[in-house]
Amino acid sequence: MSSTAAALPTADRHDVAAALRDALLRAEFTSDGLLDLLGAPAYAALARSETVPALRATRGDSPLETLVRLFLLQQPVPRARLAEVLPLDACLDGGWLRPSGDEVAAVVDVRPYGGPDGEDWYIVSDLGCAVGGAGGIGSREEGVVLGVGGASMTLAGITVRTPVASALDLGTGSGIQALHAAQHATQVTATDLNSRALHITALTLALSGVRAADLREGSLYEPVGEATYDLIVSNPPFVISPGARLTYRDGGMGGDDLCRTLVQGAGEHLNEGGYAQFLANWQHVDGEEWTERLRSWVPRGCDAWIVQREVQDVTQYAELWLRDAGDHRTDPAEYAARYDAWLDEFEAHKVRSVGFGWITLRKAAAAHAEPSVVVEEWPHPVEQPLGEAVRAHFARVDWLRTHDDAALLEASFRLSGEVVQEQVGLPGAEDPEHVVLRQGRGMRRATKVDTVGAGFAGVCDGTLSAGRILDAIAQLMGEEPVLLRDRTPAQIRTLVEQGFLEPVADTAG
Ligand SMILES: C[S@@+](CC[C@H](N)C(=O)[O-])C[C@H]1O[C@@H](n2cnc3c(N)ncnc32)[C@H](O)[C@@H]1O
Repeated sequence: MSSTAAALPTADRHDVAAALRDALLRAEFTSDGLLDLLGAPAYAALARSETVPALRATRGDSPLETLVRLFLLQQPVPRARLAEVLPLDACLDGGWLRPSGDEVAAVVDVRPYGGPDGEDWYIVSDLGCAVGGAGGIGSREEGVVLGVGGASMTLAGITVRTPVASALDLGTGSGIQALHAAQHATQVTATDLNSRALHITALTLALSGVRAADLREGSLYEPVGEATYDLIVSNPPFVISPGARLTYRDGGMGGDDLCRTLVQGAGEHLNEGGYAQFLANWQHVDGEEWTERLRSWVPRGCDAWIVQREVQDVTQYAELWLRDAGDHRTDPAEYAARYDAWLDEFEAHKVRSVGFGWITLRKAAAAHAEPSVVVEEWPHPVEQPLGEAVRAHFARVDWLRTHDDAALLEASFRLSGEVVQEQVGLPGAEDPEHVVLRQGRGMRRATKVDTVGAGFAGVCDGTLSAGRILDAIAQLMGEEPVLLRDRTPAQIRTLVEQGFLEPVADTAG
């Protein structure tokens, strides 16, 4: 366990958190209020860790400007002015603020964060860490607790949000995943190796007006013993680095071992039908297929859907994380030595590049003999939130598993919403070189189809069975219907698996 020395607000003063929350809401210190005040460019600049535009936009002394300077931009503000905006003595007493001469300064960053249903939430983090990003974090202390980053939002977006009894947020940090989980899980457990993170999670939940979680300190699954959950989420310290330095990102287990251990361990902690969803980094090692590496991580009894979103070569990777920690702003010789150590580590383990992506496991019902493990690369933009698309993927997997080709030809399908056809070929050519179906929603996939596949998809409105449609296409093309019924199910399966077609009934006409 690691911890920075700076004091934190008291976590058990719920009365103070509630009074502070009321004051923040009254002043419209919310994500919408912030956007209105700063304007889109300054608001977006904050997300890139650039504070100058926001400082320029908050020179006045309205309650909202005062709070933005105090809680997001780490500016001390005059005591008398602040007393008009929030319950000053209670906030000093509860440790949210500290006196600084005639002024008062914040002890933690507080960032307004809008929930999916318009909730006004607040993410608490260490000072200078609410708007971390390309410019480097505000503190380089080992146990520093960061606010919300791009990875946090990605995981929150892909999480399946069906109502469940129990959820585990492993490596909770500022508590953002626990905050989301509390909306659809009766009981939320949040763990972290860093006790400071657990303290900050308690503050995030209290200030957001959300019920407290069961907070447990320790590494990986150790703090939860043999407990099982309906949902496990983790945005773990997935960075593959030479030695642990920063608890929030460096797993400290060597290579991608922390992510592997996390994924492998999930099987024992999931209830039947439960989901485990992780962000992860994985090594691409000379002489090994990355997809096989990932397949070997999937625990027995689980279906898996693994999506590689990006690959960086080892130099890009080292630079990304050196900059993330602000190392590029230190002594050049120190920077060079750190960079060198990173490349040494990769060279020693024959690592060429590193993949970034999402891993979703679903604990299958005991009756499923053959798990479905899909490992794929999809680096293109998707439509977040994707939680419903993830749930639907596993529902389609179940459907395909229980329908052999004969049953598939008996079933009828509907083309999913917002699928269009694109014809690709040389300008002026009479016939397209190939036909692509493209989704406008969810994963926004594109897939090549042949003439039969395109014709088939176009006719699918849920009325005729697949077999009847293929017979009609065979007639139009002058083909033998039996041959078409024989060779097309594989293509239909792919279209179903990827969500272009939705099964609607097993026995339609
Ligand atoms: C990248 S942060 C994610 C924080 C937050 N869940 C989010 O989505 O923004 C990773 C968190 O995992 C914690 N952590 C590091 N090593 C851990 C371990 N071995 N077991 C559990 N948590 C760990 C860190 O302290 C940090 O809070």
